Amino acid sequence: MKFFVDTADIADIREMADTGLLDGVTTNPSLIAKSGRAFMEVTKEICDIVDGPVSAEVVALDHHTMMKEAETLRKIADNLCIKVPLTIDGLKTCKKLTGDGTMVNVTLCFSANQALLAAKAGATFVSPFVGRHDDNGFDGMALIRDIRLIYDNYPNFSTEILVASIRNPVHVLESARIGADVATMPASVIKGLFKHVLTEKGIEGFLKDWDKTGQSIPTA
Ligand code: E4P
Repeated sequence: MKFFVDTADIADIREMADTGLLDGVTTNPSLIAKSGRAFMEVTKEICDIVDGPVSAEVVALDHHTMMKEAETLRKIADNLCIKVPLTIDGLKTCKKLTGDGTMVNVTLCFSANQALLAAKAGATFVSPFVGRHDDNGFDGMALIRDIRLIYDNYPNFSTEILVASIRNPVHVLESARIGADVATMPASVIKGLFKHVLTEKGIEGFLKDWDKTGQSIPTA
């Protein structure tokens, strides 16, 4: 499963990229606003840090203007992935852009039928929002299971399931169990995946015993 970080915060992106485990980045207009940075400038900086896909979202609602915005965005870098909302105009834009070889992430997916439409429109990624689904009394992971089942029924679909709106490590674990292709999450959730109380305790115990030996490992 690929790991994307869901942020426009450069320090977080650099820190995650340094682990060697980061496969891409997703942003959205709210995350750009939170960064306090100019959209084009920060997006370019992110594309320079990460080799994998960097999703940047259009804000127009009609196909014509979405295409114009996408034209501007795709010039930023080769790893730029255009993010469009799951609407008729969004999917029209998706079909056109992927037909021209541009990566597209179809966002704000809340049903399996919507994911079916995104795959038919040739989306590179579809982003079902599990956290927001759960927040509203639905079962986010059940949605991922449904999409996986449907996509596996049609081997000609190439759309990757990008689990979005992840709130905790259990969402990541469940995504991997189901066989989702990508999980995008805040840096805090990625960091949480490394943690286990027994790992901490184990290190503490080993180092205590090592100290008793009075030895050290030579470092060049
Ligand atoms: C996905 O690409 C979105 O940016 C994101 O995962 C939304 O998450 P939220 O529900 O925590 O805002």
